[in-house]
Amino acid sequence: MNFPIDKAILNALDSVNDGISICDKNGVIIYLNEAAYKIVGAEKNDILNHAVARISPDKSMLINVLEKKKSIIDVEYFWSFKGKKFHLINSGYPIFDDYGEIVGAIDIFRSIERSRKLANSIAGHQAFFNFEDIIGECDSIKSVINLSKIFSNNDENILIHGETGTGKELFAQSIHNYSNRRNNPFVALNCATLPSELIDSELFGYEEGAFTGAKKGGKSGKFELANGGTLFLDELGEMQIHIQAKLLRVLETMCINRIGSSKPIQVDVRIIAATNRNLEEMVRNGQFRQDLYYRLKVLNLEIPPLRSREEDILLLSNYFLDKLSKKANKLIKHISEEGKSMLLNHTWDGNVRELENIMSRAIYMCDSDTITKDLLIQSGLETKTYDQIQQKKLTKLSKDILSKTLVKTKGNKREAANLLNISRPTLYKYLKKYNL
Ligand SMILES: Nc1ncnc2c1ncn2[C@@H]1O[C@H](COP(=O)(O)OP(=O)(O)OP(=O)(O)O)[C@@H](O)[C@H]1O
Ligand SMILES: [Mg+2]
Repeated sequence: MNFPIDKAILNALDSVNDGISICDKNGVIIYLNEAAYKIVGAEKNDILNHAVARISPDKSMLINVLEKKKSIIDVEYFWSFKGKKFHLINSGYPIFDDYGEIVGAIDIFRSIERSRKLANSIAGHQAFFNFEDIIGECDSIKSVINLSKIFSNNDENILIHGETGTGKELFAQSIHNYSNRRNNPFVALNCATLPSELIDSELFGYEEGAFTGAKKGGKSGKFELANGGTLFLDELGEMQIHIQAKLLRVLETMCINRIGSSKPIQVDVRIIAATNRNLEEMVRNGQFRQDLYYRLKVLNLEIPPLRSREEDILLLSNYFLDKLSKKANKLIKHISEEGKSMLLNHTWDGNVRELENIMSRAIYMCDSDTITKDLLIQSGLETKTYDQIQQKKLTKLSKDILSKTLVKTKGNKREAANLLNISRPTLYKYLKKYNL
């Protein structure tokens, strides 16, 4: 160490929740506070008294500061350590001695998640998901992702339709983050949870004294807050028809009037609307304005239900197993074969959200390294009767797979039934069905 640091100060830094690291002018780490060890999962021997340039392939903030001799404040930073990549928000500052000579550098950092949470709690106007967060390998989901990417940078409004829990909001956020509006706000309004009188003031804002209870100074509406970015209108099908008329006018003119004001405000907002309702039918029944429907439907996305994406069920189950068990600090690695077969045979009316909830409950209750069928049942997954499962299997097993299995077992039916995990009577039903 070529400059002294007071022990009392170091102790104080240990009680700070941000990671703090200090290096000398040669780039040798001379201090890390407790939080820094925790954030990057390091032991003292791994880092302390090591040249920072040697402990990671990525250039560290400390080296950057030493080279530039200038502070770098609140920047996103990626840093690898022991094979793990960390996404951080860092600030680095040079340390000078009494003669103005640089003697070292200090780096103060926190995980990006913490920073995002903070930003969101202040503004509440951010989209967190990206297309990489949308798990799915089947053709139908891949083609919706491709289409969404194309739509992202076409500035038209988008209508997303899909059953509950299919990921409509996930798509809306990913589209925003993929679009060139990504650095501007993503503001969401759920049309189902607000009474219709409030939707009006939530969308358009109001002037002081516009109505009894109006806040002093007035309030900006979601359109103003979303200016330059995206306004996500969730559960659009629940929007009352007179508000639909106002919305249409805004979409046509891109001008809003706060309630109680005659001063129009110009806005630049892209709308992404989502619904699980059949808007076409609602238009026919006079519950939804046809002109608004056509205006929003220009770019239309249909998110497929989970039951039509069978090949994604286990992929998603394993994804949630990995993600949620880490979150719960548990080492759960497997789903039993019976468990998998149950997951595959369920109808998933609540789609991915239902699967996520079931896995989350099962992980919570699990005290081994495997999610079993019983755990899934306790977590709310319905059991099906033997007949229902067989019926489903009957429609699933293709002629091709059956003949290949029989070739593999040299015509041995018992062995084929075992390999296919079906009973012998079921195997015979298939043989008859396919004339084999
Ligand atoms: N393909 C996917 N990959 C990973 N997670 C997903 C996927 N689809 C949905 N999810 C997760 O499932 C949950 C439900 O998704 P989301 O809220 O986007 O659904 P939704 O269609 O908006 O539902 P609702 O109509 O009920 O509002 C979320 O936790 C989301 O992260
Ligand atoms: Mg939703």
